[in-house]
Amino acid sequence: MKTRTHRCGELRLEHVGQTVTVCGWVDTKRDRGGVAFILLRDVAGKAQLTFAEEIDKDLLAATKEVRHEFVITATGKVRERDDENKTDTMATGEVEIAVESFEILNTAVTPAIEVRDDLKCDPELRLKHRFVDLRRRPMQAMLQARAKLIASARNTLEGEGFLDVETPVLYKRTPEGARDFIVPSRAHRGQFYALPQSPQLFKQLCMISGLDRYFQIARCFRDEDKRADRQPEFTQIDIEMSFPTRDDVMELFEKVVANVFSDIRRDERFKDQSWPVLSESDVQPPFERMSYEQAMRDYSIDRPDLRSRDLVLTDLTEWSRDCSFNAFKGVAGKEGLIKGLRCPGMGDTFSTGQLKNLERDAKGMGATGLANLKVTAAGLEGGIAKFIPEPEQKAMIAACKAEAGDLLLICAHEKHKIVHAVMHNMRLLIAEKLGLNDNSKFAIVWIVDFPLFEYREEDHKLFASHHPFTLPQDVDKVRTFAAISRKPGEGTPIQKLAADGVDLREVFALRNNQYDLVVNGIEIAGGSIRMHRTDYQADIFELIGINKEEADKKFGFLMSALNHGAPPHGGIASGVDRLLMLLLGLDNIQDVIAFPKSATGRDLMIDTPNDVEPALLVELGIQSVPKPQD
Ligand code: AMO
Repeated sequence: MKTRTHRCGELRLEHVGQTVTVCGWVDTKRDRGGVAFILLRDVAGKAQLTFAEEIDKDLLAATKEVRHEFVITATGKVRERDDENKTDTMATGEVEIAVESFEILNTAVTPAIEVRDDLKCDPELRLKHRFVDLRRRPMQAMLQARAKLIASARNTLEGEGFLDVETPVLYKRTPEGARDFIVPSRAHRGQFYALPQSPQLFKQLCMISGLDRYFQIARCFRDEDKRADRQPEFTQIDIEMSFPTRDDVMELFEKVVANVFSDIRRDERFKDQSWPVLSESDVQPPFERMSYEQAMRDYSIDRPDLRSRDLVLTDLTEWSRDCSFNAFKGVAGKEGLIKGLRCPGMGDTFSTGQLKNLERDAKGMGATGLANLKVTAAGLEGGIAKFIPEPEQKAMIAACKAEAGDLLLICAHEKHKIVHAVMHNMRLLIAEKLGLNDNSKFAIVWIVDFPLFEYREEDHKLFASHHPFTLPQDVDKVRTFAAISRKPGEGTPIQKLAADGVDLREVFALRNNQYDLVVNGIEIAGGSIRMHRTDYQADIFELIGINKEEADKKFGFLMSALNHGAPPHGGIASGVDRLLMLLLGLDNIQDVIAFPKSATGRDLMIDTPNDVEPALLVELGIQSVPKPQD
């Protein structure tokens, strides 16, 4: 085989007259009587190989053997194409190679999927034949952008004095929200490692070790229900720093994000792409900040999509308290929530059937109903309007800042969670209808001041709304509550606090030092200032019901390390896959990962998870039990 002199996609007019050798895959082949054209593809692009009877008859005849996706090498002179054959659809469109010799380096079967940029086919087929799928230009460009993103983040962080430290993948179960993947140990029969959901505790340990500034491009594993923006294994840009304020971490991460944007924008390889990241959308720090409280009040979600920032929800609970419509009044009386969405100018957008469908969707999320009211100059029309006297109608219209021609959608329920879920979804749907979800725009916002705890009513339990290593804003108050919880007595911590006369609203009003970065409604990063003292950590464990024994068993190493002079520290982690998905305007996380899992968590190409030999299970001391019949 001759040495390659150029990549196919590099050839330009300046190479005319040179004898070159190129290698690649046969993209297309056309026979035109005395001439044949092969479009040869490699990582840099495509070049036209021209075989002509007048140059070499035998060579032309030999091209008959060549099929799609064969791997060949060809040598010949670069020449300028005739004017009528020039094309601007490819970068090499002004030249061709008049082939003087070529060799088939390998044959190929007909691929199961076509290697074309605009391929439309069953996504599972693409996953099964990923090695072919990745030959397509959009996929190669995606991988190049992914590598660029990581290189950019690495550059920024190294420039800021961060040290890349690898942490173990054979780890231990920790409470981080999802289920763990576990790995059996042969040497310690009956015992298991867990794969890390994130390097959280190790990066904290790095701070205790005095490393000051840590980062890692870390692989994380979470056994969660599947969603379009989730993968069971994914990658984080993971960061931790010592002695930071909340602002220090946020400002550092803003720099990482802004540099990722500008580095991808400046990369010449991507100029043929139409990715949102290449749009002129402004991503200059400092990014907007919004409290959790405002996000929930205005958007019913802690990761609001601010491309539709003016579609603000209205809390109608106060209005409902004294209203004449008993269903709303009843909900308000039971500490429930009533929220309305003003859909501007959409009074006539939906048919009765479509409005019924919206209500059906809301019911699917647990709502008892979804009221729709048309705003007119005279007041409200439709559905429940007849139960609401005119002055109350006027007050509602004013509260929602609605105008004649608008539509109001209202949801009321005792369970706030249901109202939030319904109204968030309605907001997304209305934004879509209004064409506000423009993928070339980036609405970036920090959400801060999250609640310290979430409450699970069913079993009266508190749990950490971020992870339990996040520093509360008010450690003294947490200390007071933990002391009450430690008193002898029956019940969960929250039941004991209630029995002690604590106004539980005070507990729910506690805030932590967490910050999440949200882009177009997707959480791309989250972090916090951590607990650096064992007494602080013990108070949180107490309130979330992790007793000393359990804490020692699960986190003895952390508690011990905290006792060895832990500096105040904090950090953040960003989902590389989600960030890239947004930058490239894609909807599915699978499309930004070289070898992803399918929607059901399988690798369809290598066909895993799969059975292992019974002898291996015996060696590991594991018995496989079939799933019980439902
Ligand atoms: P968190 O759990 O918020 O924080 O994760 C950080 C970021 O990781 C991404 N992410 C995911 N991406 C793809 N698939 C998933 N299954 C998935 N789960 C999370 C998201 C998210 O914002 N240790 C803490 C960080 C810290 O406190 O420093 C952590 O892991 O973009």
